Amino acid sequence: MAGRIPQNFIDEVLRRTDIVDLISGQVRLKKTGKNYSACCPFHNEKSPSFSVNREKQFYHCFGCGASGNALSFVMQYEHREFIDGLEYLAQKVGLSLPETSQQETQVSRQPLYDILEAAAQFFEEQLRTAPNRDKAVSYLQQRGLTGQIAKDWRVGYAPAGWDNLFKALADTPEKQALLLEAGLIIHQEQRDSYYDAMRERVIFPIRDFRGRVIAFGGRVLDDSKPKYLNSPESPIFHKGEELYGFYESRQAKQALNRIMVVEGYLDVIAVHQAGLPFAVATLGTATSTTHVERLFRSVSIVVFCFDGDNAGRKAAWRALESALPALKEGVSASFLFLPDGQDPDSLIRQEHKDAFNQRISSALPLADFLFNHLSEDLNLESLEGKSRLASLAKPLIDKVPVGVYRQLLWQRLSQLTGLDEQTLKVALPTAIAPTPITTPNEEPVVLATRPVRRQYEARTPNRPQSIAGKLSWSDKAIQLLLQDAAIATALDTALLLNQLPSESALLLDVIDFCQQHTDCTAFAILGAWEGTAEGAHLKALAEDAPFLSAIDTLGEMTDILNQLRIDNLKKRRKETTELNLQVQIDKELRSLTHSLKKKPE
Ligand code: UTP
Ligand code: MN
Repeated sequence: MAGRIPQNFIDEVLRRTDIVDLISGQVRLKKTGKNYSACCPFHNEKSPSFSVNREKQFYHCFGCGASGNALSFVMQYEHREFIDGLEYLAQKVGLSLPETSQQETQVSRQPLYDILEAAAQFFEEQLRTAPNRDKAVSYLQQRGLTGQIAKDWRVGYAPAGWDNLFKALADTPEKQALLLEAGLIIHQEQRDSYYDAMRERVIFPIRDFRGRVIAFGGRVLDDSKPKYLNSPESPIFHKGEELYGFYESRQAKQALNRIMVVEGYLDVIAVHQAGLPFAVATLGTATSTTHVERLFRSVSIVVFCFDGDNAGRKAAWRALESALPALKEGVSASFLFLPDGQDPDSLIRQEHKDAFNQRISSALPLADFLFNHLSEDLNLESLEGKSRLASLAKPLIDKVPVGVYRQLLWQRLSQLTGLDEQTLKVALPTAIAPTPITTPNEEPVVLATRPVRRQYEARTPNRPQSIAGKLSWSDKAIQLLLQDAAIATALDTALLLNQLPSESALLLDVIDFCQQHTDCTAFAILGAWEGTAEGAHLKALAEDAPFLSAIDTLGEMTDILNQLRIDNLKKRRKETTELNLQVQIDKELRSLTHSLKKKPE
C-alpha cells in the first residue's frame, strides 16, 4: 500500500508534524536537556527510558528498543495501519490523502462496520428477548433510563453465557476474524476456541460522527469488577479521537452551540434525558487535543465537567493542557467542578435542569483556571512569585495557536506580574515544566531546567537576605550573568569545572542554565531557582548588582574567572609539598596574573 502514496506527500506530512507535540498528547513528557523523556508507553517500567528528540524528530526507548518517527509512533501506539496513521497525521496538519488511497481504505473497512452493526442489533434484540432480560431491564429502570432513551441510544444486553454472540454471528471464518478484530470475541489458545468478550452486561454502542457503530461499552449489573469493559482500539476505533454521545448531540433537535464533556456513559445519557442534549464523554481515556479539536469544529463553546475532588482537579488540569493547542480564534473553554461526591448523573436527577444549566453557564473560564492553579502556592506580591508565575505560564501560553486567545493570556500574565508583554516574551526560557497537581502522598516533580547535580556549600542564614561585606568572585561572576546571560555561550564549562574551587558550584550551574537558555535574562534565572536557598541568594545578588550599561561584560567575566583560577591555584600551592608541582603552579600563576586586565586585588 505504501507504494501508492507519493513519498513527497509523506515527507510533507512529517515536515509539518512536531513529534514532541504529537507524543505529549498521549504521554507525559519531561524536558531533560535537549531531549524529552518519559516512562516508555510500549513496555512497563518504573524509571523513564523513553526519549524523544525534537531536532531529529525521532523517539527511542533504551529499555525495549522501540523507536521511529511520528508515523511509526501512531502506528505503534494507536495500532493504526500505515495509511490510517498517515491520514491521521495529515488531517492534523491540514492535508488530505491523495484520492485513490482514501477510497481503498474505506472499501476495505466496510466488513468491519457491518459486523459491528450486526452485533449492535444482536444486543438490542437480547434486551427484548433473552430469557433473563428482566435483570437488565430492571437495572436500566433503576438507573432512571426511559424506554425511549434506551431505544434512541441503542442500549442493549449481552446475556450471561460464554458464546451467545459467537454462535449468533461467527458463521464463517471471515466473520470470526472480524469479530476478533473488533475485540468482541477472544481466542482461548489452549483449547483453540473462542468466547464472547461481553457477558452479562448492559451494552452501550459507541457511534462515530456519522452514526456508524464502531465499538461498545459494557457495564456490569452489580458491583463486580471491572465495572465497564470497552472495546479495544481497532482500525475504526481510536479512543484518542472518539467521543461517546457526539453523534447523538449533533442529532438532537436543538441547535448545537456548545458541548459539555463529562466522564461516564451514564452521565452522558442522564444529561441528555434531562433535556440538555449536548453532553459527550471520552472513552475511559483522558481528553486529547484531537478530541478538543473535533469539538471545536462543531461548536465554539466547550465546558469540561469534573468532580470537585483532587482526582477531578487533576483530570481537569490534564484536559486543560490538551485543550491549549486547540484554542483557535473565537472559541471558549471553561471548567465546571461539581460538589464532592456528585457526578452529572446524580446531580441532574437531584436538581432541576435549569439549576444544572446555570452551573454550566457560570463555569470557570480556562484562563482563570490556568492562572489560579499556577498561582496557588505563589506570593504574587514578591519578585520571586511573579517570576515563577511567568516561567510556569509561558510554556503553556506557547501551546496556544497565535491569535486572540493567546493574546488574552499574555495580557493576563502581564497584569498579574506587572511586567510588559514584550519583556515576558523575550525574557523567559520555554522549558520549565508546570507544577503538576499532586495528591498529598505523591512526590512533586522537580523543575526540569534547574541543574541539580552539584552540591552547594551551606549558606549562612543571614547571607541571602543582604549581601553584607565584600562579594566573592563567584558572586560577582553571577551578577555579570544576571546582567548579560549571553556571555555564557563563550565559556567552556568542562574546563571551568576542573579549574574553579568547589565554592563556585552555583556559578557553574548558572552558567549551564544560561547556556541552555541562550536568550534568557535575570528574570528567568531567578524563576528557575525560585523557592530555594540559592534562589534567595541570587535575588540578593540581582538587587545588589551595580548597573553598568556599557561595560565589556565578557572581558570582565574572563578576568573574574581567572581570579577564581588564581585563588584555586594558590590554595593547591599551599596544600602541596611536592616541589615539582609547586614549580608548575607558580608558572601557571604568573601567566594568569599577567593575563588579568586589572591588577589583582
Ligand atoms: P466511573 O467509575 O466514574 O463511573 O467511570 P460512572 O460513569 O459514574 O459509572 P456508573 O454511574 O457507576 O455506571 C467513568 C467512566 O470511566 C470509564 C467508563 O467510560 C465510565 O463511564 N470506566 C470506568 C471504564 O472504562 N472502566 C471501568 O472499570 C470504570
Ligand atoms: Mn455515575
